[in-house]
Amino acid sequence: MLTRRNFLTAAVGAAAAAGLAACAKEDGKPSGSTGGGGKALTLGFSQVGSESGWRTANSESVKSAAKEAGYTLKFSDAQQKQENQISAIRNYIAQKVDVIAFSPVVVTGWDAVLKEAKAAKIPVVLTDRSVETSDDSLFVTLVGSDFTDEGRRAAKILEKVLEKAGHKGPVKIAQLEGTTGAAPAIERAKGFKEIMDADHKDDWKIVVSQTGDFTRAGGKQVMAAFLQSNPDINVLYAHNDDMGIGAIQAIEAAGKKPGKDILIVTVDGVKDGFIAMSEGKINAIVECNPLLGPQLMDVVKKVKDGEKVERWIKTEESDFLQDQAKDALPTRKY
Ligand code: AHR
Repeated sequence: MLTRRNFLTAAVGAAAAAGLAACAKEDGKPSGSTGGGGKALTLGFSQVGSESGWRTANSESVKSAAKEAGYTLKFSDAQQKQENQISAIRNYIAQKVDVIAFSPVVVTGWDAVLKEAKAAKIPVVLTDRSVETSDDSLFVTLVGSDFTDEGRRAAKILEKVLEKAGHKGPVKIAQLEGTTGAAPAIERAKGFKEIMDADHKDDWKIVVSQTGDFTRAGGKQVMAAFLQSNPDINVLYAHNDDMGIGAIQAIEAAGKKPGKDILIVTVDGVKDGFIAMSEGKINAIVECNPLLGPQLMDVVKKVKDGEKVERWIKTEESDFLQDQAKDALPTRKY
């Protein structure tokens, strides 16, 4: 997994990128979006699934950016199953695509297939989520967000939400985690806890925490169970908008007011999240931008051409409080 610490290995990654790309060139394959010889660059992309509004926007961004760049895109949806991603990557290797990109459903278990891609001299670009590997040269770069920082930002914005609500007394937090083992689930929990442990040891407590698998249905079901076991929860931190929206339904079904009886902070910033926030049901959103397509296509071309790229190309994002929701809603692009 990429952290601020191993971000310093950028130079090594860039060298690996150049190495892999150079290997591809040695094969005599043309480079560039048209391949220099009229053949379009072929990108094999393995998507996590279609679990959330964020993911839908991300898939659309990848498809339209590939079209815009003139690449031949081979796209597959893994339905949140690692084995499907592994077989998609193996297919792309067999088809001898120019570059493979994927958004890994979980962080571990990729070494074998990434070694196969390396042996076939096909560079791999990670997008959205990172992996843990035994060998840094198994992927070139990551284009995506700093999820640990998103967790920190969620805790910092919760401080403002509590202040605005005039909240006094203990803060009893329910956490809806993303898919177990996925980078955003691990890191958003980690970043949030970091701030909580440093600044709110005595007054904040995560009383329940469970995965809702980044889906609305999961958020609703798990939140209903949380409310049964811990009816005094007064804050919900959901790792994405969709789980937060599902949880809102469970909160309302339990006769409580989301955004008032239970203060809610979510991550993503999709349109439906902004609608819930403009209705007063979500108190704050930490943005995670899914529109990675154009940046990804740019990096893919550079990698194929043997140019140096940074080890981690980070996405720029903002945070939003409820009173900004109505103004921001019309300009949201996803
Ligand atoms: O990896 C990004 C996360 O995956 C998004 O925050 C979530 O909505 C999606 O499912």
